[in-house]
Amino acid sequence: MLAERMKKVSTSPTMKVAGEAAKLKRQGVDVVDFGAGEPDFPTPQPAKDAAKAAIDQNFTKYTPPAGTADLRQAICARYKADYGVSFTEAETIVTAGGKQALYNIAMVLFNPGDEVITHAPYWPTIPEQIKLADATPVIVHTKPEDAFAVHPDAIIAAITPRTKAIIINSPANPTGAVISEANMAAIADVAAKRGIWVIVDLCYEKLIYDNVPHNLVKVLSDRNRERTLLAGSASKAYSMTGWRCGWILGPKDVIAAADTLQGHSTSNVASISQKAALQALTGSQEPVTMMLNEYKVRRDQLMEWFSEDSRFECAKPAGAFYLFPRITKVLEATGITSSGDFSQMLLDEARVALTAGEGFDAPGFLRISYATSLDRLREGTTRILEFVKKHERPGAAAR
Ligand SMILES: Cc1ncc(COP(=O)(O)O)c(C=O)c1O
Repeated sequence: MLAERMKKVSTSPTMKVAGEAAKLKRQGVDVVDFGAGEPDFPTPQPAKDAAKAAIDQNFTKYTPPAGTADLRQAICARYKADYGVSFTEAETIVTAGGKQALYNIAMVLFNPGDEVITHAPYWPTIPEQIKLADATPVIVHTKPEDAFAVHPDAIIAAITPRTKAIIINSPANPTGAVISEANMAAIADVAAKRGIWVIVDLCYEKLIYDNVPHNLVKVLSDRNRERTLLAGSASKAYSMTGWRCGWILGPKDVIAAADTLQGHSTSNVASISQKAALQALTGSQEPVTMMLNEYKVRRDQLMEWFSEDSRFECAKPAGAFYLFPRITKVLEATGITSSGDFSQMLLDEARVALTAGEGFDAPGFLRISYATSLDRLREGTTRILEFVKKHERPGAAAR
C-alpha cells in the first residue's frame, strides 16, 4: 500500500521514547524524563512578545515561501556578527526548523546512487533523510576514547567517485562533540578539490561550553564556499523548538531550488514564528548566555554524579546538552544484554526515560539529555545508579 520509499526509513527513536514517557506521565506515573531533545527553558519573553504583537497587528497571512525579507536579512546579519562572513538575502531561506533545512538540502541536491558521508554516533534523521532522497549514507564511526572527534583522514578515506556530500554535525547530537577548525579545514580542502558539498548542521552552534574556536562558517567559506551549505535553527539556541523556525545559508541556486521545493510543500514558516525568530536573532543574546551557563552547571554536576560509578564511561561533552556514557561495563556487571534492554528496563522499573545508543548507531551507550532541572537530574541519576546496584550480579560491585 505505501510507497517504496517508506520501506527504507525508520521512525525516530528519540520521538518513540518521548511518546512512551508522555504516555506514562499522562497516567500519573512520576517519570524522570532524560529523553527530551529540547531545552526546558521557556522561550525568552521578548520573542514571545514579538509573536503576540504579530497577532495583534494581523501579521497572520502568507509570507513569501522563503520567509520575510527582514528575517532573511536578520539571519545574514547574525552570521556576519557571529562569524564575520557576509551572506545576502538570496543566499538564505527560512525553513520549518533545522530539520526541514536539512531535508530541503537532501531533496534538492542528492540523486539516486549518490553517496553521502556522515559520522556516527549520529542524529538519526541525518541518514534517514539521505535515504529518503534515494542516496546512500556512508557512515564513519567516531570513538569515545578521543571524545568522538571527527578525524579528516577517516572522512577522506570514505570518499569515492560517487561521493556527493559530507554532512558534519557540530556540536553533535548525541555525543556533544565539537569538530576542530583544523579538522574542518582539512575536510574542506579535499572537498573543494574534488567538487564535494560540505553540509554542516549547526543546530547546536550556540551551545558550546568552553572557549573552543568553532568558526566553521569562515573555515568553509574561505575554502569551499560555492559548495557549502549551513543548516541552522532557532530551536535550541532560543528555546523555540515548537515555533519551527530554522534556515539554510548557501549558494543562491541551491537556495532558489529549496524555495521552489518549499513553495510546493509547506510554503512559509508560520508568519508569527517568523516575527518571534526575528526578535530572537536581532535582540539581546543574553538569554542564550543564561541558558548556556545553566547547561554547563548541569553538565559538570551530572559528570560528577556519574563518576560515583566508574562503569559509566562518560566523555565530557563540549557542546549541546547530552551526556553519552558508554555502559558496556554496566551491562557486563548486570548481565543485561544490550543498552536497548537496559533503557527499556530502566523505564519499566525505575521510571527514567532516556534513549538507548542503538538509535544513534552506537549500541552500548545511553543518551541522557540534561535539558532538565538539576533536581530532576539528581533524582534520575540516583534512580539509575540504584537500578544498576539492584541488578548487579554477585561480586560485581562498583569500585
Ligand atoms: C543534530 C540535530 N540537528 C537538527 C535538529 C533539528 O531541530 P529543529 O528542526 O527543531 O531545528 C535536531 C533536533 O533535535 C538535532 O538534534
